[in-house]
Amino acid sequence: MSSEIASQIGVHAEYGGVVPEIASREHVGAIDCLVDRAYERAGVTPNDIDAVAVTRGPGLVGALLTGVSWAKAYAWSLGLPLIPVNHIEGHVCANYIAFDDCDPPFVCLIASGGHTALVSVGEDRAIEVLGETLDDSAGEALDKVARILGYPYPGGPRLDEAAEAGDDSAFAFPKPKVEGRYDFSFSGLKTSAVSLLDRMARRGEEVRVRDFAASFRKAVIGALVEKAMACASDRGSRGLALAGGVAANRLLRAETGRACSDAGIRLWVPPPPLCTDNAAMIGGAAFYGLLRGDIADMSLNAEPSLSLRARFPNVP
Ligand code: KG4
Ligand code: ZN
Repeated sequence: MSSEIASQIGVHAEYGGVVPEIASREHVGAIDCLVDRAYERAGVTPNDIDAVAVTRGPGLVGALLTGVSWAKAYAWSLGLPLIPVNHIEGHVCANYIAFDDCDPPFVCLIASGGHTALVSVGEDRAIEVLGETLDDSAGEALDKVARILGYPYPGGPRLDEAAEAGDDSAFAFPKPKVEGRYDFSFSGLKTSAVSLLDRMARRGEEVRVRDFAASFRKAVIGALVEKAMACASDRGSRGLALAGGVAANRLLRAETGRACSDAGIRLWVPPPPLCTDNAAMIGGAAFYGLLRGDIADMSLNAEPSLSLRARFPNVP
């Protein structure tokens, strides 16, 4: 009915990345007005709601604590159930909001700023991790290279835009070598891009930024698509879902679209605003949490390194 975002990108861009202490303070300052705005846009009042959902992790502790403390007090004051949500699971749930036909079981590629994983979503919507990155996430690698190319934080979307007008065969990057069939590795790719840029800078060579962006994007997205398609095919999945901020990437959307159509399977990709961090996906995850009876008491705490494998109410 409404999904409001208080973006802090402008504040952190000045520093080239997220400053945790500033993030916490910004959360404290924004939360009350944001909730008011969500009610206003939805045209409902506190009497109309059934439950309060909150992200309990993973993420920055100060930001999580702001949400958890606020949600506990709010749920308690209204006598409503409090539903804790795993942020990464929330990303997957964006697909349930965007598509009526996205029913488990299916395979999902999760690529956010901090995570890259291939998961299987079972009939009960429980997530089983099949593979993940052994080092950096795809988003981290894209952001780091974008930053060196001179794009402001967060560079991923800017690099994506620049890449559209670049020659993706201008630079060659090594294909990541990973033992696990569904695991990823992006640090080698990132380091090779950073050293190449460094060498060119030392030689005084001019970098064709768009070509570099296009070539690097092709290498990162290529690794994601290859593993995701292998996974969907091995498991005989009827569809592949994408989730997380990197799922807003144009090339990832186009390449998975092509590959799924060739493989004759369904592709679910939420519209970009539901791929990057948003409140609706947390509400979507909480809907199923409420049905399962995952209701938290007042001892709920923030879990900065909450694993995708952790099930509530167990501690990770
Ligand atoms: O899921 P998300 O919004 O936040 C986290 O939970 O981390 O993901 C943010 C990540 C950042 O690395 C950002 O650069 C990346 O998603 N991202 C993109 C695009 N839009 C956002 N990466 C590539 N292409 C995009 N269009
Ligand atoms: Zn996220």
